[in-house]
Amino acid sequence: MAEENLTRELFIDAAERGINYRESIADRAVAPTADAVKGARKFVEPMPDKGTDDREVLAMLDAIGSPATVTMAGPRYFGFVIGGSLPVTVATNWLTTAWDQNVGMHEVTPATSTLERVAMDWMIDLFGLPSDSAAAFVTGATVANFASLAAARHRVYSDIGWNVEADGLIGAPPVTVIIGEEAHPTVVKSLGMLGFGRNRAVRAPVDKQGRIDISRFPTVNGPTIVCTQAGNVNTGAFDPVGDICELVKPKGAWVHVDGAFGLWAAASPDREHLCAGFAAADSWATDAHKWLNVPYDSGVAFVRDTSALKSAMAITAEYLMTDTEFRNPSDFTPELSRRARGVDIWAALKSLGREGLAEMIDRCCSNARRFAAGLGSAGYEVLNDVVLNQVLVSFGDDATNRRIIDAVQEEGTCWCGVTVWQGHTAMRISVCNYSTTAADVDLSLAAIIAIANQTTANQP
Ligand SMILES: Cc1ncc(COP(=O)(O)O)c(C=O)c1O
Repeated sequence: MAEENLTRELFIDAAERGINYRESIADRAVAPTADAVKGARKFVEPMPDKGTDDREVLAMLDAIGSPATVTMAGPRYFGFVIGGSLPVTVATNWLTTAWDQNVGMHEVTPATSTLERVAMDWMIDLFGLPSDSAAAFVTGATVANFASLAAARHRVYSDIGWNVEADGLIGAPPVTVIIGEEAHPTVVKSLGMLGFGRNRAVRAPVDKQGRIDISRFPTVNGPTIVCTQAGNVNTGAFDPVGDICELVKPKGAWVHVDGAFGLWAAASPDREHLCAGFAAADSWATDAHKWLNVPYDSGVAFVRDTSALKSAMAITAEYLMTDTEFRNPSDFTPELSRRARGVDIWAALKSLGREGLAEMIDRCCSNARRFAAGLGSAGYEVLNDVVLNQVLVSFGDDATNRRIIDAVQEEGTCWCGVTVWQGHTAMRISVCNYSTTAADVDLSLAAIIAIANQTTANQP
């Protein structure tokens, strides 16, 4: 068969396999069977000397890989904070992959770089951020936190006359970093990667929902970076970012907001109050692969001070075409070469529009409340105020909770994870998928409650 026919056949085959997977996703058990997981070991072999026919490679991936997946893209996956992927974003992602653009420089990838610029402007508008903020399209909130804090590091050091990019941190004057007791571990990791140390930040006390308690906020003195959070990974609670900005900005502190999923509340008229005062901060990190429901991996950092982010990230060389009148994407990211992940974001926003996005966010929140109401009426304790898409429920003591969560995961109707919230083991339910319906919640509630009732009834 001619080369071009083979490519066509292969691409159509891949599309059909992808379609079959997604068409069956709501009916598959959420967790793979033990046999399917064991089957994935068939991938493990010595590096082959001879090649394999492309069609066979694809068929092998589907036959062994597909059954061993957890259906994270499906409507009843409530683990971690995992979005699905809107069909349009999978489709545009496939086309963008076929383009195979390296979006590091505008001059060589004008289409993808223009689309990223549009997606950036739309998000700045949706989140109500300063209109001239810079944005970095990165792998996820981890790197968005890192990029934001690299910009913060540049600004606080440059304000005290230290060139941190050139001279590093050895012998540098001290800078104070303040984070909430409930800061996400990726913020702590980012501080470590930036040379601030994972253990040196001053911890701000939090309340029962995990929000920074402004009445007990540490005193700010000298060069300072404050990391706040929009959307606690367990409770969904928001730090009082506006109040914190009022307190620390007059002292010259940089305020960062980790809004991995919570920032999307700003896109809903019913929930934007949760983000009141956010525009006064200096940097904001979010994920698109969570609540915007685009394929992995995709996160964005926004920074008010464009020159701080550029100073931390931009490079050039004789052979690079970074000098352009347009926004040059790699001036803002840790990576030079990368995929055009902004196209997926553009596609999601273009397809949903402002109204569709708000409706998706609100639907997830109302389904989270449905979970809380169902579990509460069944006699189980909901541990958090359900202000967003996160629900924490306890069925009893630590061992009982773990037994029930294991059984729910094994049963396969839905998938919920475990956490320990302020000393109590609990089941975490995160509603983040565009396709989850009230009927999916009811089906999941029935499975969870049946398992919980049976487990608690059988206890000595
Ligand atoms: C508040 C918060 N920050 C950061 C992260 C890290 O996000 P990612 O895994 O996409 O890098 C998460 C993940 O759930 C999160 O909830």
